[in-house]
Amino acid sequence: MTALSHAYHFEPATGPGVRPMLLLHGTGGNEHDLVPLARRLAPGAALLSPRGRVSESGANRFFARLAEGVFDPAEITRRTHELADFVIAAAAKHDLDPQSLIALGFSNGANVAATLLQLRPEALGDAILLRPMVVLDQPAAAGTLTGRRVLISNGRHDPIVPVDHPEKLANLLRAGGAEVKVALHEASHGLVPGDLSAANDWLAG
Ligand code: MLT
Repeated sequence: MTALSHAYHFEPATGPGVRPMLLLHGTGGNEHDLVPLARRLAPGAALLSPRGRVSESGANRFFARLAEGVFDPAEITRRTHELADFVIAAAAKHDLDPQSLIALGFSNGANVAATLLQLRPEALGDAILLRPMVVLDQPAAAGTLTGRRVLISNGRHDPIVPVDHPEKLANLLRAGGAEVKVALHEASHGLVPGDLSAANDWLAG
């Protein structure tokens, strides 16, 4: 068997009937960061959590950037395919259906979860995107996201995410047929209790 491309943390399910989660950390994070949040949102779920392969001065990321807020579509496309291939191979190894995965991504991890939906929707199911922005200005192909649910949860006072990006990203995903909810909080780039309740409500919905 070929070695998997990404280092990762995996926890098998401890409860029946809970959808597995794909955890995607933010810049400078690692595969352990989102585990406590995922355990609160989906107790008992299997957790598949890769570490971003790009190092920006030692900070792990899922794709390189030219500067803060400046992206190279070719790099994002290449890294998105690399991650999608990893998710599909790791899901097979751990006996998970990739399309049952709910991605839980924060910041750079939310951004790569969005580009997975845009470019490789077969590698995941639904998605909770915490503080995403548009990094690839490309609508999902029509019909590729039919039946998918996405939560976009952003802060109104976030210096990293331009104010129009949450709705712009929602529309890029709606182009593929996804049902997208945008929740905006009185918050900056850091998470607040409102993100947790928005994610809980969305999961229950
Ligand atoms: C970050 O990680 O700083 C931002 O979410 C944007 C990015 O993906 O670079």
